[in-house]
Amino acid sequence: MTYITVTNGQRTIPNTPTIPFIAGDGVGAEIWAASQPVFDAAIEKAYGDDKKIFWQEILAGEKAFEETGSWLPDHTLDAIEQAKVALKGPLTTPVGGGIRSLNVTLRQTLDLFACVRPVRYFEGVPSPIKKPEKTDMVIFRENTEDVYAGIEFAKGEAETKQLIELLQEQFAVKNIRFPETAAIGVKPVSEEGSKRLIGAAIDFAIAQKRPTVTLVHKGNIMKFTEGGFKLWGYELAETTYKDECFTMNQYQTIKQADGAEAADTALNDAKAQGKIIVNDVIADNFLQQILLYPEKYDVIATCNLNGDYISDALAAQVGGIGIAPGGNINYDTGYAIFEATHGTAPDIAGQGKANPCSLLLSGGMLLEYLGWQEAADLITKAIEEAIRTKKVTSDFAHAMDDAVELSTQEFGSFLVSIIKEL
Ligand code: NAI
Repeated sequence: MTYITVTNGQRTIPNTPTIPFIAGDGVGAEIWAASQPVFDAAIEKAYGDDKKIFWQEILAGEKAFEETGSWLPDHTLDAIEQAKVALKGPLTTPVGGGIRSLNVTLRQTLDLFACVRPVRYFEGVPSPIKKPEKTDMVIFRENTEDVYAGIEFAKGEAETKQLIELLQEQFAVKNIRFPETAAIGVKPVSEEGSKRLIGAAIDFAIAQKRPTVTLVHKGNIMKFTEGGFKLWGYELAETTYKDECFTMNQYQTIKQADGAEAADTALNDAKAQGKIIVNDVIADNFLQQILLYPEKYDVIATCNLNGDYISDALAAQVGGIGIAPGGNINYDTGYAIFEATHGTAPDIAGQGKANPCSLLLSGGMLLEYLGWQEAADLITKAIEEAIRTKKVTSDFAHAMDDAVELSTQEFGSFLVSIIKEL
């Protein structure tokens, strides 16, 4: 078996890497069975016998629990650490005590600090908005901090009372409205955590020649946490990336000192030099902006909770849940898990109705991460072609006129046949 290696942040990709996959629960097995032949066909079409992925099944979720008694066996984490990169389907979140969420656990254990979600429209996909093709963004959601760090204290517990007393007595906190019945959550947002995420977003914008990076935050209310995120983002862009970026913070400084005309000239000069414009938008306004002017936004960097809402809102805008891909990446260690972003869809599991596009496009992101862009492009093209010719799975077929409904497996086979013809 050959594995990806990472030295000083540089990845070396063998031609025949072993890559673990977690098929997942619910519809997971169906979408995996439909998708693997598509990945293999795309790689073969792009590179003949020169490149090939050896897929290695590893277990997590319900299937793991049934077979091993553990929701997330050590072997699974070991295999991902060895291979560096993995692909996963949806996992049932165990109900009751123990692990809060397997996805959150995987992200935190491997310190996968960037949750990357590209959002684009595929011509013909049913969408609730008039011009969905104007939406083309890549979201970089911080994955390890914020209220998702899980630092919470339940109502009425002794430690909660202790914490409330500490806040009131030693920090003069006066505005816990109902201290007797309050639960408390803690929101850590650090300079380091913010800068590594925003740096990844800027690196991506540079590599992909995207014109803007937008910092989305609630710094108007949470001045030190989300306000810090914005501040550190601008600081990073103006120092580490000073040759590649111009910020709207710099624009404001010039405007105050030398007037609007000078600021506009500086902005236009920066654009003419191909610099990335780094700006910021308050999160609630951003949710309006993406409906009204989606074309104004390219790469988005945001804290964990905002990123959760924004990812789903944008995915819905371009046709929703069955098609949105995602990757959780640590650009320093090279660890990355690409995943279908939807859940296990228990209501349609086992019926051949699931749309495998989210897993397929996540696999496409994995191929891009390996530098196998040609194979990734073939998957995207095949999906575009299938949707254009209206041969789609049940979820899309019901919302399209004159569509031919294919089962999950038939859809996968159809994509393979398209790839062979491309
Ligand atoms: P869900 O995403 O499984 O389902 C929501 C709706 O979307 C359902 O109507 C479902 O049929 C539909 N849907 C989802 N994926 C689809 C696909 N590929 N093709 C066509 N339709 C699709 O969300 P729900 O019901 O809230 O969660 C079910 C289980 O999944 C829970 O245990 C939850 O914790 C888990 N979950 C896991 C995630 C992951 O592993 N990344 C993400 C979200 C939920």
